[in-house]
Amino acid sequence: MTNPPAPYPDAQDDGLKLTFALDQIRDTFDERSEPREMFVAILDLLRTHFAAEAGAIVLLEEGMDEPDTIINNGISQGEALDLCRAAMRATEPGIIDNPYWAYTMGNEITLRGQPLGAMILVRQSEPFTTHDLHMLSVAEKQVDSAIIQARTAWKLIHRTRELEAIYHVDRLRDETGSNERSLLEKFAAYVGTLFSADFVGISLTDADGAPGEFVINGRGLPDDSIARLFEQAHGHASFSGLATPTGVTEAVFISAPLITHGIRLGSVVLGRESLFTRSDYRLMDALCSQLDTAIVHMRQLQAQPVDAPATDLSSVDDAPFTQSIRYVSDALHVDDVRLDLLANEVGTPAYVYSLKAIRDNFQALRAAFPDSRIHFSAKCNNNPAILRQLIEDGAGIDAVSAGEIHLARRAGAHSEDVVFAGVGKTVGELYYAVSRGVGWFNIENESEAATINVIAGEHGSRPRIAIRFNPEVQANTHKHIATGHTYAKFGMTEQAARGLLDKKESYPNLRFEGIHIHIGSQLGDTSATTQAVQQALRLAHDYPFIRTLDIGGGFPVAYRASQSLPAPADFAAQILPLVRDYTLIVEPGRYIAANAGVLLARVLYIKHQGGRQIVILDAGMTELIRPMLYQAHHAIVPVTRRDGPLSPVTIVGPVCESTDQFAEDVLLPPVQVGDLMAILTTGAYGSVMASNYNARLRPPEIAIDPDGTKWRVTRRRENWDDLVRTDLRDDTYRL
Ligand code: LLP
Repeated sequence: MTNPPAPYPDAQDDGLKLTFALDQIRDTFDERSEPREMFVAILDLLRTHFAAEAGAIVLLEEGMDEPDTIINNGISQGEALDLCRAAMRATEPGIIDNPYWAYTMGNEITLRGQPLGAMILVRQSEPFTTHDLHMLSVAEKQVDSAIIQARTAWKLIHRTRELEAIYHVDRLRDETGSNERSLLEKFAAYVGTLFSADFVGISLTDADGAPGEFVINGRGLPDDSIARLFEQAHGHASFSGLATPTGVTEAVFISAPLITHGIRLGSVVLGRESLFTRSDYRLMDALCSQLDTAIVHMRQLQAQPVDAPATDLSSVDDAPFTQSIRYVSDALHVDDVRLDLLANEVGTPAYVYSLKAIRDNFQALRAAFPDSRIHFSAKCNNNPAILRQLIEDGAGIDAVSAGEIHLARRAGAHSEDVVFAGVGKTVGELYYAVSRGVGWFNIENESEAATINVIAGEHGSRPRIAIRFNPEVQANTHKHIATGHTYAKFGMTEQAARGLLDKKESYPNLRFEGIHIHIGSQLGDTSATTQAVQQALRLAHDYPFIRTLDIGGGFPVAYRASQSLPAPADFAAQILPLVRDYTLIVEPGRYIAANAGVLLARVLYIKHQGGRQIVILDAGMTELIRPMLYQAHHAIVPVTRRDGPLSPVTIVGPVCESTDQFAEDVLLPPVQVGDLMAILTTGAYGSVMASNYNARLRPPEIAIDPDGTKWRVTRRRENWDDLVRTDLRDDTYRL
């Protein structure tokens, strides 16, 4: 059998050669190449193959009907665009009639019915043949896939270009302080280079809303031409082409509006020889909105009286660095571990803890309260490495659920060294705690006493009870974390406590031996605590079988370097002389863990909106909710310290909640997309309060050994399996 003859001699062979050559061009293209170069090479090849004098490839923007890229060779951009449009309109590949060239053939490039662009080739000397047309459609099959390949690369390139450009405008703003004119001049010069524009003009609207003074860069146009360009520009609220001024040839002018919050700030006009594409428009749009914000920001600054106090210390200067968490050269370290390197290994967001700092803080407390039992409040951080180390160093645990008791025991705690507190313990939890022999039950109401009494009777044990007493004092702290006042749900009033202690004989299986108080967390001074201890002592005095006082936690931690707060020793100085006759228990959480931890996050995006520079991190309220819940301040510092002018930034998370904001108007040196940031003092009430809201995955927790160098992931990052771990199949669920 012989193959049927090819429609034209050599058609197959020619087609294969062309396909192969185009393939080769595509194969040399990788993610580091500039896609435009690929199309330049393709066009060159086609011109040679078809002995064409000129040619063009026009590509549409993805999902749009608009040309985005024009590759032209031997032909002007305008002609290229016209011819390619004609090729796209034609129903099939073919000869295109046109006023420019003697012979033109063109072909729309499509993929699965979707138009991607067009290519055209022109000759003056000799008409194209049917064979040429056939070969052009062969080429089209290769070029369509090249376009798809290039689009992916282009997206990345555009995005990077855009981010770089935005960042550059920020830098210009910072460099120019509050000198608006100098900012505009620098902007014009920068835009001129970026777009290879021969003319860049900016005019801000004057008090009457008309174009004001011009800032011009490039081509010397007569003043009246410039005025006319801006009049036109000013009439447009979006990107628009402008009429080329008389006397100017071969140039295209466009205008971009400067509009912020619906207020017209001015216009930018660009002129150059080649056409502007959609991606130029997009880039210009990003630049203009950055310029808007810069102008608004400057005006706000100017509006402030000259002698206005500095808004704040920079977030870096006021960050509460410690011996463990500090910069070494310009790299933020936790002990001897460089956080940038660590983040590269473990990803972000991630919690990092210094076990050395945990140990140091525990020792500091022990030094302040040498003869007391120290029960670490596991609610603030139940990381296994932290629990294990504290337990090894001699700490007991303050637990508020059976879950925490379980974690404490798993980390090596003896049950008798565990205090079980909590305003709403369930029967199940109490049963678990009694049967495991938990050391203390800090009870909060009489029914709880009755329940434990029954459970203990069944179990045959006599657990120790401390009554949580509400001393009705007002602690100096945030209202959400004050617990010892009249309106708090916590503890028992003096009357209720006395009522219970007076009839302790009704609960034969309970040993009432302690009074417990905890008036709040992050206590700003020692006075409320001292007062509360005095009240507790008065109560205890009447019940001589009370031998132990548990004074709770609450020792404060500086979240800013400039904050001055009482140290544990200050509390001890007030309290210890009062409680000599009693065994003392303290339940610190925050003081031990807070400044031993940082939350690492990466900058995903930077946005300029509403006159603010918004830095979007990959960590949010799902990882650290304290700022949103208590308006808590956490210093946020760059992991790599950079010099540069400070500017106010608003730092937010990615969660779909307006409240997902860490800080507003904090002063930071320049921040860039991709930068690592550390949110400090997040070792307490950080990871434990993390959630899966928005189906986000809870971050890993990394512990750095007390030697300062070895680190390990003590809790891995959650994955999608974790998200569905508790789901049941529908039918199972119904059973
Ligand atoms: N003991 C009891 C009975 C407590 O309720 C607490 C904390 C502590 C000890 C430990 O307090 P610390 O030493 O950590 O201040 N989520 C809030 C804090 C809630 C505190 C709850 N109770 C925050 O992020 O600030």
